[in-house]
Amino acid sequence: MTLTNEPPSSPPSSPFSTPLDTLLDRVEKDMAEDLVPAEIFNNEDVFRAEMERIFTNTWVFVAHESEIPEAGDFVQRRIGLDPVIVTRDGKGGVNVLSNYCRHRGTQVCQTDAGNTRFFTCPYHGWTYANDGRLIGTPLRQRAYGEPLDPDLWSLKRAPKVENRKGFVFASLSADVPDLEEWLGGGGWMLDLITQLHPDGMRVAGPPERYVVNGDWKTAAENFAGDIYHLPTLHFSVQEVDMLQGVQGSCEIGRTYEFENGHTFAGHAWTKAVHPGFTLWGYPDEYKEKFDLSGLDEAQRFVVDHQPPTVGTLFPNLSYIRMFSPVPGGPPAVMTSFRQWQPVAPGKLELWNWQFVWNFQDEESARHDYVSGQYYFGSAGLFEQDDTVAWEGVARAGASPWMRKEELKFNYQQSRTSPVDSTPDPDWTGPGVHRNTGYGEHVQFNFLRQWLKAMRGEARTDAATTEGTQA
Ligand code: FES
Ligand SMILES: [Fe+2]
Repeated sequence: MTLTNEPPSSPPSSPFSTPLDTLLDRVEKDMAEDLVPAEIFNNEDVFRAEMERIFTNTWVFVAHESEIPEAGDFVQRRIGLDPVIVTRDGKGGVNVLSNYCRHRGTQVCQTDAGNTRFFTCPYHGWTYANDGRLIGTPLRQRAYGEPLDPDLWSLKRAPKVENRKGFVFASLSADVPDLEEWLGGGGWMLDLITQLHPDGMRVAGPPERYVVNGDWKTAAENFAGDIYHLPTLHFSVQEVDMLQGVQGSCEIGRTYEFENGHTFAGHAWTKAVHPGFTLWGYPDEYKEKFDLSGLDEAQRFVVDHQPPTVGTLFPNLSYIRMFSPVPGGPPAVMTSFRQWQPVAPGKLELWNWQFVWNFQDEESARHDYVSGQYYFGSAGLFEQDDTVAWEGVARAGASPWMRKEELKFNYQQSRTSPVDSTPDPDWTGPGVHRNTGYGEHVQFNFLRQWLKAMRGEARTDAATTEGTQA
């Protein structure tokens, strides 16, 4: 008898290797062929390891300082699965504290944001100052006699916290490179996005949040620079006349790959629209206010001719800026930073902050905010398209049938495309730059870093571009 549905044989594994190690071996082997096993996008073992090996071992964005401008301000955030409280203490310092009471673990902060000098645990009332110090225990004389030593019983703090030009990152491991070194070219790109005006940017409100039944990596790799999906998934935006030219977007696509998996992709708007369409198409009254003197020559070239439209700072902070007309209104450019919060295998919570310039008045800021919501927001045109597609990826990743088939996703565009996607030899900025949106190199830059991090190899190699596809 012939079995037509016989599953492919699994690679041999050492008697001491775990199923996860075996899977990672398979990922490595497949990636050498520009393939990726579907199951990494929805897998219990992978998810658990991501939380332990990536999210507790690297810099993760937690807040923008404009969310906590005053002493006592706080926001509740997440690093992987762990709730943290980001506070501005009385001395102006920023603290990233674990939101687990040291008595039994209950969350001492139960709200998203506010202003307070201390947090009182709702369970038995242990109380902590907003810098994390234990300052009170109910019925202390009878319950404990001596005061508990705050050096021993304060809230756990993230071992590393850095505020880089308003963007606050924390690491749950002390054994990480400095943030500047870790971001490398990603920081260079962040500067040309957010430092166009000396007063900088602010959040336009608290982050909008919604659950997507998709894997956090799917969203991160899309925002790393999946320009190829625009003409298909987002064609409706062209149909309703909100954005023309999505059909040709790979032709005018420009990509930027940096060390440590940070990746951006933009468009050559001055070529596609008209020569004066510099700086993302910002209206002249914005351009007049910008001060570009702090940018280097390559940054000037990028902002003038092919600014980043999207990007991902590994692991889970992404960005998008594009011109986004509100029908019938004046032109606008929206800026969103978004975080793909892992919730469970194949499930993420999307956090979306709209950003505006500090020089904008309320009315102009609101206009840009509304235009941003038209495109990227829970009811935004782009957002709805994307999230439906991403949910399909997670479904395939968890499929029993596809596990049996050892389904692999195809990232092989660079192997067969006639378009030249080799690195630009004239590029003078950091990392690798390519003059096309074809090639799927950007997704691999992100996924290679993911594999390194999953293997525990990602912490000490901040200065290498090794692993970037040539
Ligand atoms: S768990 Fe917080 S006081 Fe007991
Ligand atoms: Fe999209």
